[in-house]
Amino acid sequence: MKIIKLKTQLDVSKYVANEIIHQVKNNPKSVLGLATGSTPHQAYQLIKEDYKLNNRDYSQVVTFNLDEYIGVDFDGPNSYQTYMKNALFDTLNIPKENQFFPLVDNADHYDDLIKKHGGIDLQLLGVGINGHIAFNEPLSPFNSLTRIVELAESTRIRNSKYFNSIEEVPTHAVSMGIASIMHAKRIILAVTGKSKQLIIKRFLEEPINEALPVSILKTHPNITLIIDEEAGEYISA
Ligand code: PGA
Repeated sequence: MKIIKLKTQLDVSKYVANEIIHQVKNNPKSVLGLATGSTPHQAYQLIKEDYKLNNRDYSQVVTFNLDEYIGVDFDGPNSYQTYMKNALFDTLNIPKENQFFPLVDNADHYDDLIKKHGGIDLQLLGVGINGHIAFNEPLSPFNSLTRIVELAESTRIRNSKYFNSIEEVPTHAVSMGIASIMHAKRIILAVTGKSKQLIIKRFLEEPINEALPVSILKTHPNITLIIDEEAGEYISA
């Protein structure tokens, strides 16, 4: 695993944006695995700015998002489809039919769909404070594929900031599995902010085990951990 520690969250966002921009420049038919949440938001903004400034073409790009809530309105403010629309898709010329989200209806064949498109070239990932990747909460099997999952209480509490109350936060989601993620040809794990200090320490120090889903990433042959100084306080990369 390659570890790159940069000063600020903005530096991490710039790195992530550049990697995605170059991936698409080098291969206009790239298959991107995309994440939601606070970590990638600024990187998406930078990609949009670059798109407008440099006349990029994303018309052949295919995207697979990591997860989607169950029980929220697809077009409403809390769905990850709406997040992606506002954060990235409303600006880039990625055809709507090339934008995939794991849903109850396609969960069973989401991994086949990824395979059919040649596999994910570049997967962008964050990590939860409990070590989850996508919505693969602690004790998710390492061989899991896309499926319906139950959210951990700590995840619901952390994500409640996007909802009016904790009661509104869904209890279930559809998530790519850990094996689905590990099939990506390349992974960028982006981690920023003080709240992630401890999970990064655990990620680096604890053995690989299903109680710490992110730990499996240490075995991926092409992964970069990109981290800011706040999240990386305990590491000397
Ligand atoms: P965050 O979420 O980027 O909002 O911290 C990361 C995650 O839970 O995977």
